[in-house]
Amino acid sequence: MKTILLKTLADTLAFGRFLGQVAQSGDVICLDGDLGAGKTTLTQAIAQGLEVPANDYVTSPSFAIFHEYQGRLPLYHMDFYRLADAADVQDLGLDEYFFLAGLTVLEWCERAEDLVPATRLKINMTIELDESRRLICDPGVGVWQERLEIFEVSMQKYL
Ligand SMILES: Nc1ncnc2c1ncn2[C@@H]1O[C@H](COP(=O)(O)OP(=O)(O)OP(=O)(O)O)[C@@H](O)[C@H]1O
Ligand SMILES: [Mg+2]
Repeated sequence: MKTILLKTLADTLAFGRFLGQVAQSGDVICLDGDLGAGKTTLTQAIAQGLEVPANDYVTSPSFAIFHEYQGRLPLYHMDFYRLADAADVQDLGLDEYFFLAGLTVLEWCERAEDLVPATRLKINMTIELDESRRLICDPGVGVWQERLEIFEVSMQKYL
């Protein structure tokens, strides 16, 4: 586990851009945590890092559960807020995207956690008293541990 403290919105956007830039095909990022913590905001910055055109902006998919965007890689943005459990995700066939060429970002992933590959990056976002965001990152069994360490030493570059 790694804790990242994002003091300002600019820090959150920097982290998202970094994630989008280092993402490889088949990666999955799970975002959980407080309502309004910044899961969608972080995803917007991930899209920017993935070179999704600015006019093709990332909306809150809570209204739609699933959105696909075209960047350097396809971005599959899902929000399970209105789904009950893993069975709902499977009924909609959404779990098939986790294994396609592209980056999958899942908001409110916890309710379908068992479906997600073990190489995922799992992030829990909470709001601190001063509006900063605390991210508890579980890098899973893949390459994310190494990538998060790179972000910590080079964050200034992404601001
Ligand atoms: N440090 C910060 N990081 C991220 N967002 C911040 C920060 N400070 C303020 N904000 C604001 O908090 C809000 C986060 O909203 P957002 O929709 O991204 O949250 P969410 O986690 O997706 O919510 P939901 O649980 O409803 O899906 C935005 O309006 C954003 O501008
Ligand atoms: Mg959201």
